[in-house]
Amino acid sequence: MIVLTGANGRLGRLTALELAKRGMADQVRLTSRTPEKLEEFAQRGFKTVQADFGDAASLSAAFSGAQTVVMISMPGPIAERIPRHRACIDAARDAGVTRLVYTSRVNPAPDSLYPFAEIHDATEKAIAASGLSSTIMRNNEYIENILPAVEQAIESGKLVMPGATGRVAHVAVAEVAEALAIVATDDTHAGKVYEINGPKALSRADVADIATSIVGRNVTGTPPSAEEFADLRRAQGRPEFMVEMALGLFRAVDAGEFETVWPDLRNLLGRPPAGVGDIISQMGT
Ligand SMILES: NC(=O)c1ccc[n+]([C@@H]2O[C@H](COP(=O)([O-])OP(=O)(O)OC[C@H]3O[C@@H](n4cnc5c(N)ncnc54)[C@H](OP(=O)(O)O)[C@@H]3O)[C@@H](O)[C@H]2O)c1
Repeated sequence: MIVLTGANGRLGRLTALELAKRGMADQVRLTSRTPEKLEEFAQRGFKTVQADFGDAASLSAAFSGAQTVVMISMPGPIAERIPRHRACIDAARDAGVTRLVYTSRVNPAPDSLYPFAEIHDATEKAIAASGLSSTIMRNNEYIENILPAVEQAIESGKLVMPGATGRVAHVAVAEVAEALAIVATDDTHAGKVYEINGPKALSRADVADIATSIVGRNVTGTPPSAEEFADLRRAQGRPEFMVEMALGLFRAVDAGEFETVWPDLRNLLGRPPAGVGDIISQMGT
């Protein structure tokens, strides 16, 4: 039995679909704080259960009898996420789970300029300390995160995204899900750390050029500063921890923290991963 947490989120739903494609639905338990939202998956043969990283009893019930737990990191402020991730790891260990698969983040280093790196650093260390066998998926930024900015740029001509000149090896979220399903269903991935990124690292100017060539309208990557970028997020009504995250993300991009292109996703998928241009081309189709 595989348990997939965060199954009602963007990545979780796509991962469940990948598991269904592999004929695994009846061997997978999907968790959500509100499992009613997973009804369409229950109809496909998945078991759905209520679980909250803030409720240890719900985790121990959800993980009971599981061989593998796929722990999708939860959103929220750092002070909430680290103890809740630890509670999830403890529950997996106490349930006698054989392997924990965790969705970490590229460059989960304590000195990263990206504030949420601290969460993934602490979580990876807690997994190592737990003694559980694990597979760590260090995901880069999703390509889909920049699609709203590309859509706006098609109207305004100006592409506003994190980083003035830094490059990011963005990855398609559907392929993050595919890789997650691949490692979740094969214990030979135990003990591995995978760096999950797209085929090429691109700057904002590169993305603007790609968008221009695809949509046929001139898009430029005129940069706001990191502070202006954070102010834009504030003006959109984002909570302060997300504004801080945006500011740190901008600085981390410019420091080159997300630019390394690793071969891991290509090797897992057995084909070259999709790039930013492929996903922009699919916009609105
Ligand atoms: N690499 C990237 O670009 C990138 C971008 C965005 C996010 N992320 C990270 O990847 C994770 C998954 O991304 P996503 O796009 O699928 O995010 P999402 O759509 O926001 O989904 C987050 C999931 O976390 C679950 N969750 C929230 N609070 C929880 C709690 N207390 N206990 C258990 N589960 C909880 C939610 O489950 P319910 O509400 O159903 O309980 C939801 O399914 C995010 O949480 C974040 O850590 C990465």
